[in-house]
Amino acid sequence: MPGIHELKTRRAGEFSAEFTVPGDKSISHRAAIISGLSNGPCHIRNYLPSEDCLNTLRAMESLGVQCQYLESNSYGPVDMIVHGQGMRLTRSSSPIDCGNSGTGMRLLAGVLSGQEFESTLTGDESLSSRPMGRIIRPLEQMGARIESLGEKEGCAPLLFRGNSLNCISYVMPIASAQVKSAILLAGLFADGTTTVQQPAETRDHTERMLNRFQVPVVRNENTISIRGGRIPEAVDLDIPGDISSAAFWIVAASAKLNSRLLIKDVGLNPTRTALIDVLLRMGAAITSKPSTSGDDWEPAGSLEVLGGELRGTEILSTEIPNLIDEIPILAVAGALAQGTMTIRNAAELRVKESDRIAAVVENLRAMGADVTEHDDGMSIIGGNTLRGTSLDCFGDHRIAMAFAVAGLFADGETMIRNAECIATSYPGFDEDLSKVRDQ
Ligand code: S3P
Repeated sequence: MPGIHELKTRRAGEFSAEFTVPGDKSISHRAAIISGLSNGPCHIRNYLPSEDCLNTLRAMESLGVQCQYLESNSYGPVDMIVHGQGMRLTRSSSPIDCGNSGTGMRLLAGVLSGQEFESTLTGDESLSSRPMGRIIRPLEQMGARIESLGEKEGCAPLLFRGNSLNCISYVMPIASAQVKSAILLAGLFADGTTTVQQPAETRDHTERMLNRFQVPVVRNENTISIRGGRIPEAVDLDIPGDISSAAFWIVAASAKLNSRLLIKDVGLNPTRTALIDVLLRMGAAITSKPSTSGDDWEPAGSLEVLGGELRGTEILSTEIPNLIDEIPILAVAGALAQGTMTIRNAAELRVKESDRIAAVVENLRAMGADVTEHDDGMSIIGGNTLRGTSLDCFGDHRIAMAFAVAGLFADGETMIRNAECIATSYPGFDEDLSKVRDQ
């Protein structure tokens, strides 16, 4: 969304809308990387042309993968043929910039660890302060030679000296799909079988996509294994809409009496839909219809939401990894609900694109909500009337979008400063916002 720096919004009336949201961010990153490693041309449809995913695509191009763009919208390419290099990447002539994207950096780290050549991954200020030790440690155990060159210890830029990898069996201390995926992608280049054990279920897009490319990934409860040396078999991919982007409208419609929303062609992978379970517990009226067409390498379908009144709930610790990106907008739902919403066991939020606990608490308070901050979450007593004000989004796309939606329920005008970061995940958000707001 280049050029938009201040996003202004105000209270909306009841609305009726039908949406498709842009392609899934997590799946798009993986599609660029795994198709680039495959043995031939892959037709990818509905790629997310957000800054994060475009950086990953450019990263693969700089590593020798050719992409033929078939269709672009005003934000970037959405339909393309990626010509896989059969796992034989070539050295990038310059450092690879991952921008704001933790997913891009951590997944590419898995791939670059297993190359013979040297490479460097860099990122913006926010990404350069996020913890990379969580991937460096297991990748070094696999034989990777990684140097963290950041001002902050264990942070980007990351220099990969290139090495051959051995398999490991790794027990992950935190539930992170990015860490799991970095190890599985490195495992593609390792001798033998690499096994990762996760403390809780996390999004399984890497496993599903590798299986779709005929690289067997075996899952036994929370233990996942991959055998190295298998080149992904080229295949075409249709990427479903991103449920994390749909989440903003799902919450807006759930909390706006007499509203109706239909979201079509959205991903319904069960490791991503905990938001719906929580909203249903809060009294929301949401019906999901799985699509029957196509194969189900990634479940997708439509969601219908009818607006009503919400009540607070406790978010369970087992739900946290499967709605980690939706917590800012769920906290807004908590402020709009009657009763108390409790979010605990979510300390990971402090090391996302911003400290999302601090950011949400500060902004909800500025709008007049009753919030208590905890080390690992927050409690919100809902029901106060929200008031519009000028808010910072701390360079964090999900904070900007969550509070733009809060503004749809607030007295007066809500202004989100520096909202250009929304382009990292949801190009076109402002147009969709006005569809809901200006009815
Ligand atoms: C992602 C995993 C999650 C999530 C991020 C995308 C992924 O991060 O917050 O937006 O695509 O694997 P963690 O693995 O750090 O929890």
